[in-house]
Amino acid sequence: MQFHTKAMNKKAFIFDLDGVIVDTAKYHYKAWKKLANDLGFDFTETQNELLKGVSRVRSLEILLDIGKVTLPDAEKTKIMHDKNEHYLQFITQMGQDEILEGMHEVLLYLKENNIPFSLGSASKNARLILTQLDLIDLFDAIVDGNDVSKAKPDPEVFLIAAEKLGKNPDDCIVVEDAIAGIEAANAAGMISIGIGDKEMLKEADLNLNSTSELSLDLIKKILRN
Ligand code: BG6
Ligand code: MG
Repeated sequence: MQFHTKAMNKKAFIFDLDGVIVDTAKYHYKAWKKLANDLGFDFTETQNELLKGVSRVRSLEILLDIGKVTLPDAEKTKIMHDKNEHYLQFITQMGQDEILEGMHEVLLYLKENNIPFSLGSASKNARLILTQLDLIDLFDAIVDGNDVSKAKPDPEVFLIAAEKLGKNPDDCIVVEDAIAGIEAANAAGMISIGIGDKEMLKEADLNLNSTSELSLDLIKKILRN
């Protein structure tokens, strides 16, 4: 069914990538864990939560803090490169079966109904992942880790996305799985939808346990408000 009212077309969506469109967090974790183990310390899945939504550089700083390891800058650059090479081995094997539940339908639905949407991700691998999943052509705009100078929780990534879509921030709905991402969306003056633990993402305007709860009925309701 097509939307016809102006009110519905006024809004736009901005989607985070990792943990919202695709479950790449497990691959980030594997790659960071190997790096930690190589440096001589353990890195748990719980600790990995701290790395969600933050940039690659910041992720490394957090990891090194956990392991109480200090390294010269040149070494940090090298191991970040190695971590990414390892991560790329996983993501270049990904197929559409790794798109999170319901998300492909949501993107196709928005496209069919001319509701614009952008990516708003911290990842420098975002374009590669969207190409790999054959989703890249659906997006009206892409803003990723290559386009920003300030990482989430700074609102920059979402404000650039709104600008690229030609929308006011308060007409944008951000879908995020990370605390830093919800903070960024709220700081941008946008509507925030948190995917995951309600307690952790309590600052979100709307909480969903998983992407499967972002149903087309809910999307229609959000667009009507
Ligand atoms: C975010 C992830 O989307 O991108 C973080 O949640 C990750 O865990 C960050 O560190 C940067 O990703 P990349 O692909 O540029 O290393
Ligand atoms: Mg995320």
